[in-house]
Amino acid sequence: MVCLGNICRSPLAEGILKSKLPENTFFVDSAGTANYHIGEQPDYRSIAIAKKYGIDITRQKGRQFKVSDFDAFDYIYAMDSENFNNIVNLAQNSEDVSKVNLILEELNESSITDVPDPYYAGNKGFENVYELLDEACEIIANKLDY
Ligand code: 4NP
Repeated sequence: MVCLGNICRSPLAEGILKSKLPENTFFVDSAGTANYHIGEQPDYRSIAIAKKYGIDITRQKGRQFKVSDFDAFDYIYAMDSENFNNIVNLAQNSEDVSKVNLILEELNESSITDVPDPYYAGNKGFENVYELLDEACEIIANKLDY
């Protein structure tokens, strides 16, 4: 799960997808394309909205996406098209490129392709982000074999 800062959207996506999969079956992680928030806890508003739905993301720590993530992961989900492009620009080969998806393209008939950046959007923005990610992660979890 990859966004810009790895403190708002992708930590939520990581927590939500983990909550929908049996423990120790998949390695789910998140990262940011930028390096602004390395080592930081998720934004307090992401922590709060996750907690509201029974998910604890307080132990996550921000990190930056790195080229070796293409080998470490089978699927890479970008939160928006800018992150998508930034990830694809780091790809070393066509197999790397093929792993990168826009997470909202999982939603059937969705008219929006970008999870809106909630950093300056207030609490309502985080509720909206949670709902979008919950719907997308439900579809992703149902598609995975276990
Ligand atoms: P995120 O949100 O990409 O969902 O983690 C942001 C967090 C921080 C900043 C931008 C977006 N920032 O500019 O510091």
